[in-house]
Amino acid sequence: MNYRHLGNAGLQVSELSFGSWVTFHNQVDLDATMKMMEAAYDAGVNFFDNAEVYAGGLSEEIMGEALRRLGWRRGSYLVSTKLYWGMHDNPNEKNTLNRKYLLEAVDGSLTRFGLDYVDLLFCHRADPTTPIEETVRAMHNIIERGKALYWGTSEWEAAEILEALDVAERRNLHKPIVEQPIYNLFAQHRFGPDYEPVYGKHGYGSTTWSPLASGLLTGKYQAGIPQNSRGALEGYDWLQKELTDAERLAKVAALEPLAKEMGATLAQFSLAWCLQNAHVSTVLTGASRVEQVHENMKALAFVDRFTPDLMADIDSIFS
Ligand SMILES: NC(=O)c1ccc[n+]([C@@H]2O[C@H](COP(=O)([O-])OP(=O)(O)OC[C@H]3O[C@@H](n4cnc5c(N)ncnc54)[C@H](OP(=O)(O)O)[C@@H]3O)[C@@H](O)[C@H]2O)c1
Repeated sequence: MNYRHLGNAGLQVSELSFGSWVTFHNQVDLDATMKMMEAAYDAGVNFFDNAEVYAGGLSEEIMGEALRRLGWRRGSYLVSTKLYWGMHDNPNEKNTLNRKYLLEAVDGSLTRFGLDYVDLLFCHRADPTTPIEETVRAMHNIIERGKALYWGTSEWEAAEILEALDVAERRNLHKPIVEQPIYNLFAQHRFGPDYEPVYGKHGYGSTTWSPLASGLLTGKYQAGIPQNSRGALEGYDWLQKELTDAERLAKVAALEPLAKEMGATLAQFSLAWCLQNAHVSTVLTGASRVEQVHENMKALAFVDRFTPDLMADIDSIFS
């Protein structure tokens, strides 16, 4: 495993990390969770991502229980969670980054994890209805109270991140240091030119998500939706359209010979491609079984195999 600084921060994250969205509780029980986390940790993964809203809080509970049973030293790993959507149907507790919600919600997450602090706390989405200074100050206070060590944003527009950085700088508050954006061969917009000052001038880090476009980039959807896949899950109908889209499937097919030539599986090829971007600090992987973790971790062997010519070939497929 290689480690990258989280932007300009002193903190280092493993190039591949592991997240719980969709899978924990919904697809995998505690036993399977522990096996996958252990496989990732043994491969050098030091960062485990979660969110308040995943499985209605049960994902944090399962990860916390797994961490207790695995018994790893707290200093050896990083845990994150994300706040915004909330757990209660109440105007002050859903779709918000107001001070009351943030200060109470972080306590709820810590209780579910059974942890004293999370390493990274993300604002899961931007909230244009709350003054940015209120949010920045609340995140600052959470850090000052020792409940999170660093904070970041997820799926924020570049202008929103720059505004938060500006407020924090002017008021001498803890700045956000990291964005959690979608990033895969089909979704590259969060590293567009508007984000250049965020990652360049401000040295923001990134923990990128859905590197396999929910599994599409493994090639497993080429002949329809397999049973026991994310695409077959109830409640994910919105995803099925993307996973069976003919144009997307054709692009995946065009990628296949390039991966084959490298000796990589499509999943490994697609994960290693994400790490070509120097602004990516860590690629958050997901898995529903331990074999996928083993396969995905081996992507690191291919990171230095992407020549400029190969990158141009890939661009021509996805542009
Ligand atoms: N900030 C945000 O808004 C946000 C949003 C989404 C995700 N995230 C974070 O990013 C993490 C990763 O996202 P993601 O789960 O969407 O990642 P992904 O890599 O795009 O999809 C992971 C899924 O693809 C399938 N898969 C993975 N490796 C495979 C392999 N080698 N062969 C075949 N199938 C494979 C598995 O699903 P099946 O086996 O069930 O098909 C797995 O659960 C999440 O856990 C979460 O922590 C953040």
